[in-house]
Amino acid sequence: MRTQVVIIGAGPSGLLLGQLLHREGIDNIVLELRSKDYVLGRIRAGVLEQVAVDLLGHAGVDARLKAEGLPHHGIELGFDGRRHRVDLHRLTGGKQVMVYGQTEVTRDLMDAREAAGLPTAYSVPDVSIHGFDTNHPVVRCTLDGKPVEIACDFIAGCDGFHGVSRASVPPEALSHFERVYPFGWMGLLADTPPVSEELIYVNHPRGFALCSMRSKTRSRYYVQCSLDDRIEDWSDDRFWDELRSRLDERTAARLVTGPSIEKSIAPLRSFVAEPMRFGRLLLAGDAAHIVPPTGAKGLNLAASDVNYLWQALASHYRGASAELGHYSDRCLSRVWKAERFSWWMTSLLHRFPDSTAFDQRVQHAELDYLVHSEAAMTALAENYVGLPFETQADR
Ligand code: APR
Ligand code: PHB
Repeated sequence: MRTQVVIIGAGPSGLLLGQLLHREGIDNIVLELRSKDYVLGRIRAGVLEQVAVDLLGHAGVDARLKAEGLPHHGIELGFDGRRHRVDLHRLTGGKQVMVYGQTEVTRDLMDAREAAGLPTAYSVPDVSIHGFDTNHPVVRCTLDGKPVEIACDFIAGCDGFHGVSRASVPPEALSHFERVYPFGWMGLLADTPPVSEELIYVNHPRGFALCSMRSKTRSRYYVQCSLDDRIEDWSDDRFWDELRSRLDERTAARLVTGPSIEKSIAPLRSFVAEPMRFGRLLLAGDAAHIVPPTGAKGLNLAASDVNYLWQALASHYRGASAELGHYSDRCLSRVWKAERFSWWMTSLLHRFPDSTAFDQRVQHAELDYLVHSEAAMTALAENYVGLPFETQADR
């Protein structure tokens, strides 16, 4: 078997890359360890930057996103029993974000791939990658119970944090940068109307809370929890009580509760692996970096890597091979800015178990400064809606 690009992983990174390459006439095969249903069963964040929306449009997969996505022009910050609006639209000269679940993005990409008749294999065990430091890389795996070898020009490692791609790089060729946070997020999805039209990020003495949504009839809420907590410890009632206790009175009174349709606990981590290219192996998305969800940057960073990757591969096949040499630096420059922003939002809004009274006063002063300073709010807004992609004209 032979193709131009083998894409490992059918998350948003792999599927979006496959679609963009296909539109450039570049053949690709996607290999996914899990079943399609498993991939679609993962509930993840749901805020898209304008540049990510534009990229999905370029890939031809934005019809449902445009019809069903909720454009948001602002977010709110809650503390001291009050809410403060950050007018993203005004502060960024007219930009916005789109609320649309990652699961829906994945579903749209899967449908587009299927409609185009592109080769995708789910439930594929034993993926291993070879010879990416040569001009003739090979991917081996088991398809329908039989060992298969796929020769290719490039391997795109889009297989998430626990994937095989980064793990196949010799350790001495990789540098890791990591911060693990001493708390998690307990998330609950419910078919109840969202408590507010915009997202509310709350800093409360009992811990962080977030009011988000998937649609006008489906809410997504989070509360900061202990890393020792187990999902069984959190009945729906306990979750709703805890959330309500962290909201200001007016918001708490408006909260509509209901049975959960999904609950999960996620740890928070910042992680970057450098570089993102090893010969003919190119990492993208969670395979190369993780952000805590506070800035809603995970999916957006995956889109940003894919934006640089499809362009570099397209340039290569048009004879401009040097573009691939810039792939890693280009990605990492944007990745680190999103890492900084996500770390900052996380530090600003959570209760750290080891924080001193001094730390808490400083955190409070920063929130108070932020909501009263046009300059500070502009910096938040500019990062939240997403920094621009570097274009070839910028180089
Ligand atoms: N072989 C094939 N596929 C694999 C392997 C393997 N050995 N290991 C992992 N995978 C698959 C996973 O099952 C998963 O479907 O790779 C896919 C990676 O998808 P994601 O984890 O969604 O990562 P990515 O596509 O980069 O998307 C990043 O996902 O985690 C969120 O916040 C993150 O929103 C961001 C987005
Ligand atoms: C979500 O809706 O799941 C969500 C929104 C914003 C975030 C994180 C998660 O910052």
